[in-house]
Amino acid sequence: MDKTIELVNAIKDIQAMPSVIVKTLNLMKKPTVSMKELGDLVMYDQSLTIKILALVNSAYYGFSQQISSITIALSLLGMVKVKNIIVAVAMKPMMSNAGDKELWKHSIRVAAGCEYLARLTKVMDADEAFIAGFIHDVGKIVLHSTNPKMYAKVIELVNQDSKDILETERHYFDSDHVKTGSLLAKRWQLPILLANIISYHHNPSLSSIPVPCSLVCAVDALMQDTFNPGRIDKDFLKTLGIDFEDLEELRKAIMQKAELLISELT
Ligand SMILES: [Fe+2]
Ligand SMILES: [Fe+2]
Repeated sequence: MDKTIELVNAIKDIQAMPSVIVKTLNLMKKPTVSMKELGDLVMYDQSLTIKILALVNSAYYGFSQQISSITIALSLLGMVKVKNIIVAVAMKPMMSNAGDKELWKHSIRVAAGCEYLARLTKVMDADEAFIAGFIHDVGKIVLHSTNPKMYAKVIELVNQDSKDILETERHYFDSDHVKTGSLLAKRWQLPILLANIISYHHNPSLSSIPVPCSLVCAVDALMQDTFNPGRIDKDFLKTLGIDFEDLEELRKAIMQKAELLISELT
């Protein structure tokens, strides 16, 4: 059997991905979703509802009034933002298991960065950019869950010796997080945008929708713990109208914003 299929099949939790996430992501495919449909998804999960409300009331969204119900959150934030929040909250336990919360934090940072840059440059819808950034590394969950120790070794090599992450993963796992992620996207029947982001965020030019993939790729590089400017595609940056010299400032601003979300959920 193909190694990627074998790895994904080995993770039972992933097969049974929390249905609330699958349903929420699938709702994104529908052009019209009623508030009731979305509200019903989380209504019966009390702990999820509490966390969503905490996030909606956090400084990240900056509402002056207290938002006390999902229905009010929906009318104030709009459905797409609430869907994003549902996914970010519901996916936390799964991502936190994969690497001591670091993967989840990184995903939130890239999500916040993509949202920020999309709003600034208008290259794509800011709400879609958030979820695209959030989900990009989902395939890492599979590798980490299969062998946490071995995956920690991969991360160590990537951080310390600046090794290429996909190559290093392939060396140890005979697969990589793009391959495992792509298979998950297929099994979960994720929307085309998200499937593309997962498959091409390390190689945007191969995607049929290169702009969103390039955006996630750039923000991913920007949000690494140690920022390496060499990893940023300068030509793409130019098309966004962003000066290379402004990157450090941009990074700081995004990090600060992302921390507002992270602190509310940890
Ligand atoms: Fe990645
Ligand atoms: Fe990443």
